[in-house]
Amino acid sequence: MRNTLVAGNWKLNGSKASIAELLKNILAGMADGRVKSNTEVAVCVPYIYIHQVQETLEGTAIAFGSESISEHDSGAFTGEISGPMLKDFACEYAIVGHSERRTIFGEKDADTANKFAAARKHGLKPILCVGELLEEREQGITETVVARQLDAVIDLEGVEALTDGVIAYEPVWAIGTGMTASPQQAQDVHAFIRGKIAALNADVADKVQILYGGSVNGGNADELFAMPDIDGGLIGGAALKAEDFLAICSAGK
Ligand code: PGA
Repeated sequence: MRNTLVAGNWKLNGSKASIAELLKNILAGMADGRVKSNTEVAVCVPYIYIHQVQETLEGTAIAFGSESISEHDSGAFTGEISGPMLKDFACEYAIVGHSERRTIFGEKDADTANKFAAARKHGLKPILCVGELLEEREQGITETVVARQLDAVIDLEGVEALTDGVIAYEPVWAIGTGMTASPQQAQDVHAFIRGKIAALNADVADKVQILYGGSVNGGNADELFAMPDIDGGLIGGAALKAEDFLAICSAGK
């Protein structure tokens, strides 16, 4: 049985003061038993606040990580943050291939695969985001797009590598829009992803956590996480408010 994972993705939000308050309140809620025992909790945060988050969370039940990672280890790559640097600050996770990185910053499938490899090489768990645009869903090519995004990683690293990370299915049209995929729409794509992996390695398919992301909130998390192939969520907007995040962390099987 796979654990549920609820991972916050803070994006370009927060200040020292707001982060201190947010983490204090989430930790207090967890101390009050508001998170199920089989639910893992993590926050992926802007690079500059990782040190603050490490000082607050190291030794607690909340894991933490970054929102991206350089594919390079060191050298002349101005503005980048590498796997060794993230490990230096005790990060456990690194999001790779978020749709905002793909669509706004032009990251390609190959870049995402290289970032997945870099995270893995340094013992970080990549959270590999995949998902289709609205027009791709309307064209009926959701599975083709998601398969292509997954194949970039599988071709580079091998299917077994997926168990070193987490997959997040995030339909781009559902991110930050309030337009959540229905539990069945999400389950259909999750089942497709797991089936595709199972065709290569049934054991990997059985083990890998597949999160759903896109307008998850305290009101819809229960129904989404109840689906057989949905193992938790990658949470944007609702991860910035302790009450909302805790409500999502208390959902699930
Ligand atoms: P959202 O973002 O929960 O605000 O839709 C999810 C994400 O982008 O990971």
